[in-house]
Amino acid sequence: MGNLIIKNARQLVTCAGVPPKRGLDLSTPQIIEDGAIIIQGGIVDMVGTTEEIEDRLAHGHWYEDPEEFTTIDASGQVVVPGFVDPHTHACFTGHRHQEVEWRLQGKPYLEIMAEGGGILRTVQHVRDADEGALAEETYQRLMLMLSLGTTTVEIKSGYGLDTETELKQLRAIAKAAVMAEERMTVVPTFLGAHALPVEFRDRREQFIDLVCKEMIPRVAEAKLARFCDVFCETGVFTAEESSRILRTAKEAGLRPKIHADEIDECGALDVGVELEAVSADHLLVTSPEGIAKLADSETCAVLLPGTAFCLQAGRFAPARQMIDAGCAVAIATDCNPGSCYTESMPLTMGLAAFGMGLTPAEALHAATINAAHAIALGDEVGSLEDGKSGDLVLLEMPDYRHLVYHFGINQVGMVVKKGEIVHVRD
Ligand code: NIG
Ligand code: FE
Repeated sequence: MGNLIIKNARQLVTCAGVPPKRGLDLSTPQIIEDGAIIIQGGIVDMVGTTEEIEDRLAHGHWYEDPEEFTTIDASGQVVVPGFVDPHTHACFTGHRHQEVEWRLQGKPYLEIMAEGGGILRTVQHVRDADEGALAEETYQRLMLMLSLGTTTVEIKSGYGLDTETELKQLRAIAKAAVMAEERMTVVPTFLGAHALPVEFRDRREQFIDLVCKEMIPRVAEAKLARFCDVFCETGVFTAEESSRILRTAKEAGLRPKIHADEIDECGALDVGVELEAVSADHLLVTSPEGIAKLADSETCAVLLPGTAFCLQAGRFAPARQMIDAGCAVAIATDCNPGSCYTESMPLTMGLAAFGMGLTPAEALHAATINAAHAIALGDEVGSLEDGKSGDLVLLEMPDYRHLVYHFGINQVGMVVKKGEIVHVRD
């Protein structure tokens, strides 16, 4: 919980406003030239120009002790809120590099999975893993994310698919969160219905029973997750099965999320909207009717352009149509060992711009304030305004648009979490 003053930023982009941002609000950047900020006790106290902040400091006799503030000169740099990554599968072990070649030879993602590869391969690795080692590996991944500017992240389970391993994975996420405490906010999601495990191949009904009657109650009782997600997809879980799981979860106090329309439109989005899911994620093949429904709802669209890119889906989510229709749009890395192995939110912003047509301001809002809203943290993180967490990134660039323009490199100079400097570029 630090006391920090930053002055002389070339630009300070606040991303302020009531989340989620839609339409014009999403595309209009709020930029303070020669920006400055005061963070007291980890919380943003004032945002303004350097002149305004200096004036407040000169007359702010109510500040405890000026000596207790660290002051940073951000000359030549851009300050933005810490990035929020609202959809990851970052708790895993074992790699699947061989699948890259299979996919490049034209083998579909779902076919690899049907043959026991894909998600099911990682399930084997995670079932065999020691909880502490899994936590340590996840923590290392969190630190890599931090070095790329992410200060809040959602992590899903879903590589256990049996009660004990799902609980082990969620405990590993909780341990990694403790290791990263004060540097990163971690939000856990239970994704027991990520794939049908091999041992239930001919008993899918029983697996849904297991998720509803055993896994959800135990996860909720142990308070190991805030959300429940389902991979609702042709050949994975049907809309009906997903609806049953998410209803059960909702009654147990886990708010619904849904993997929807990634490969096929199979009714997932309807389930999400009907159950007032916090977010519907992927939405690669969502139809104009689906977009209209989403725009009318409180459900946030979480788009994963890195996954569309790596799966060579031949298209990206129809983000432009979604934004123009008034949908709340956020973006995430989807960081996982199969369909998209990246920890980088800046790269995801670049792909959102060049793949989906988001403007730099839209991409930044989608990666901060709207991403925070997609994990129900829109009141706490995702923007630089009075009363919110002092989470920010100092970027070594002349203009915030370099976030997408100068892509594929790390421009993060410093990361601040709750007013404490938690990462400095080597
Ligand atoms: O969001 N779609 C399902 N799950 C992940 C992939 C996980 C994996 O391949 O291991 C996704 O793309
Ligand atoms: Fe996913």
